[in-house]
Amino acid sequence: MSIMITGGAGYIGSHCCVTFLEAGHDVVVLDNLSNASPESLDRVSRITGAKVSFVEGDIRDGSRVADALKAHGCTAVVHFAGLKVVGDSLNDPLGYYDVNVTGTLALVAAMKACDVHTLIFSSSANVYGNPEELPLKESHRIAPMSPYGETKHVVEQILGDLVVSDPRWQVAALRYFNPVGAHETGMIGENPLGTPTNLMPIITQVATGVRPALQVFGSDYDTPDGTGIRDFIHVMDLAEGHLAAYRHLVSREEGEGLVIANLGTGRGYSVLELVRAFEHVSNRSIPLEMAPRRAGDIEISYADPTYARQVLGWSAQRDLTAMCHDTWNWVCKNPKGFAA
Ligand code: NAD
Ligand code: WQD
Repeated sequence: MSIMITGGAGYIGSHCCVTFLEAGHDVVVLDNLSNASPESLDRVSRITGAKVSFVEGDIRDGSRVADALKAHGCTAVVHFAGLKVVGDSLNDPLGYYDVNVTGTLALVAAMKACDVHTLIFSSSANVYGNPEELPLKESHRIAPMSPYGETKHVVEQILGDLVVSDPRWQVAALRYFNPVGAHETGMIGENPLGTPTNLMPIITQVATGVRPALQVFGSDYDTPDGTGIRDFIHVMDLAEGHLAAYRHLVSREEGEGLVIANLGTGRGYSVLELVRAFEHVSNRSIPLEMAPRRAGDIEISYADPTYARQVLGWSAQRDLTAMCHDTWNWVCKNPKGFAA
């Protein structure tokens, strides 16, 4: 079975390529390389010993997507392609709606034209906004706090309407919490092309001397050490969650509706706990600067992963030490990312 992975040259997508190839699937990546290097796919091939077909293209180009689906005989799509920086989405909402919403519409229309009805979509815990209850269940009210989060919510709604319109559609929207880590070989990992905004890439920049210190955004939260708490999840666990979702979708009856599942560990760690774990694993000290809260940040976020365990048969296996170890291994082996 050939599976198209949009955005497959990027951080999460490249790890997902490994998981699907190792499960025996053929993979074709469609990516416009706006935030990725094709070197990631060479590395995927070296890890797996399998070929990854690559189509350089944009998801908004429906005919290019349709041609690729047909040429490779794809039967399903795992859809990672999109823009993901919350702060950027505040400055460029139209760009975010264009890529994330219009792009997904073009992709799904191309799938429909090619009779491909199985889709796994990268959603985000960002759709929940400020939690009213913890842990976050899929039934929690939806209240995104940025255009980025809105794009994920809008796409979930579109996909919900789609599955009602035609029972052949088998679609899952997976809400990721905070992905970190890298493949255990250290051959692929997160390679932010611009200035990173997420915590783990900034910690690694401090560890390697690119930055002098980590600014801790808020130390007066109502948490045991005063810093924000997040559900960090190893990127390979996340990738395996996609394979579980795929197997679920292709084995169930038609017309069972949209699958919406959290992909998190169910356990929250604070910013300082992550820093301490990283220091321990890397044997580097991470100087800290206490700074004001970052606008738009929430205090605590962690998943209720029960649904994914019960319905997809998936749960995260890797702990915080593995997340830090694999991140550090990737950074040490690739100090310039894929540019070396
Ligand atoms: P990433 O930027 O590393 O990967 C996205 C990939 O999509 C890149 O390879 C990029 O070149 C490609 N792309 C972007 N626009 C495209 C377009 N118009 N056409 C074709 N390709 C395009 O990001 P990631 O961290 O791997 O995230 C993957 C998905 O997961 C995104 O949809 C993101 O919103 C979602 N997500 C990410 C996180 C996170 O913290 N990393 C959390 C929740 C959800
Ligand atoms: C985590 C914690 C910061 C940087 C975002 C998106 C979410 C998802 C993942 C896409 C917070 C603190 C950070 C720093 C810090 N992406 N921090 N100093 O904000 O939980 O989630 O990325 O879907 O949708 O919103 O992740 O890694 O930016 O921050 O103290 O230099 O680290 O304040 O408490 P966040 P993050």
